[in-house]
Amino acid sequence: MRSYSLLAPAKINLYLEILGSRPDGYHELAMILQSIDLADAIDLHANGTDNIRLHCDHPQVPVDKTNLAYRAAQLMIHQFPDAFAKFGGVDIEIEKRIPVAAGLAGGSTNAAAVLVGLDLMWQLGLTQSELQELAAQLGSDIPFCIGGGTAIATGRGERLSPLPDLDNLHVILAKHRSLGVSTAWAYQTYRQQFSSSYISDPQSLKERSARVHSGGLVSAIAHKDAAKIGQSLHNDLERVVLPKYPQVQQLRQAFETAGVLGTMMSGSGPTVFALTASRTQAELVRQQVATAINDPSLEFFLAQFNPTGIKVV
Ligand code: C5P
Repeated sequence: MRSYSLLAPAKINLYLEILGSRPDGYHELAMILQSIDLADAIDLHANGTDNIRLHCDHPQVPVDKTNLAYRAAQLMIHQFPDAFAKFGGVDIEIEKRIPVAAGLAGGSTNAAAVLVGLDLMWQLGLTQSELQELAAQLGSDIPFCIGGGTAIATGRGERLSPLPDLDNLHVILAKHRSLGVSTAWAYQTYRQQFSSSYISDPQSLKERSARVHSGGLVSAIAHKDAAKIGQSLHNDLERVVLPKYPQVQQLRQAFETAGVLGTMMSGSGPTVFALTASRTQAELVRQQVATAINDPSLEFFLAQFNPTGIKVV
């Protein structure tokens, strides 16, 4: 086929622990990631030229090679020159529904969709793990975005172990429209402030990273215990983002006051999410938090846990 339409879901971090530094300059992480059904729509069309052309309806999203979706297409061309010669270039159309620079892997999931879509369009027949290996060359969250669902992610974030699906939880997300946090800034600031507590011995790092598998959140997920999942949320990056951005701190407190199952900043923020047991509850929490903060620049999204990553529609 010459055209594919894909859905690219956002992710939230149910858990993010920074363990130490890596020789490649990144951080060694232990995370639990969850796809949600807030998703961008991606259309790919073979354009009969030698070019990648990117379009996006969101004014803040770059359409050049600084966009991860563009870089994903470049990587595929580089890896599979014969397929590119046969099938030609591609138009990539992104309809943005996931907020930008929000800690929800919006850019990463778009790149994952381009990898999955070009694999189909160019009839390459790549396996999920081959796609994930390519994805890891582009960014730490992109391998997860391909398969999605619920998973433990270690290493840079690219080493994945699937967890049982959670289908009974609802999410309410809130973000100030004008606020964006750079992921690189958040990690760099964390390093400046907390690197003295990093684990440096490789064996201890390995043991600590393995510990997430037997931790309270994994056990809560295995038992589908919504209350315990809510209580076990964790994100080390809150330690640098909350003090710098009082609005994010205020949101966290407003969600806590609203009596949710649990609330946490996602990734490097600034999006804060809260878990509820029903959609009705999520709507009530939205009203309560919107009234408490009363800021027209605050936007809300209601979503549900999603069992998959990139989907062809
Ligand atoms: O891999 P990605 O491009 O998504 O990472 C964005 C930034 O986040 C990196 O440039 C790095 O500063 C930081 N990061 C990190 N350790 C990780 C993942 C990301 O320090 N495991």
